[in-house]
Amino acid sequence: MKANVNENCIGCGLCASTCPEVFQMTGEGVAQAQEEPVAPQLEPSVLDAQSGCPVDAIEVE
Ligand code: F3S
Repeated sequence: MKANVNENCIGCGLCASTCPEVFQMTGEGVAQAQEEPVAPQLEPSVLDAQSGCPVDAIEVE
């Protein structure tokens, strides 16, 4: 799985607290996902972050 944060992000920060291993807040106040593929044990937490995002800014492939 790969995670990506798109331009819809409003910087609410939920993903970074739900799954800090994959999502970090940038200096611009939006989230950024790690470039590397998500470790299998973190996939449930990434999906939680995705469903929790209020603006559907998290894409997974
Ligand atoms: Fe942005 Fe959604 Fe995370 S708004 S900070 S991608 S929960």
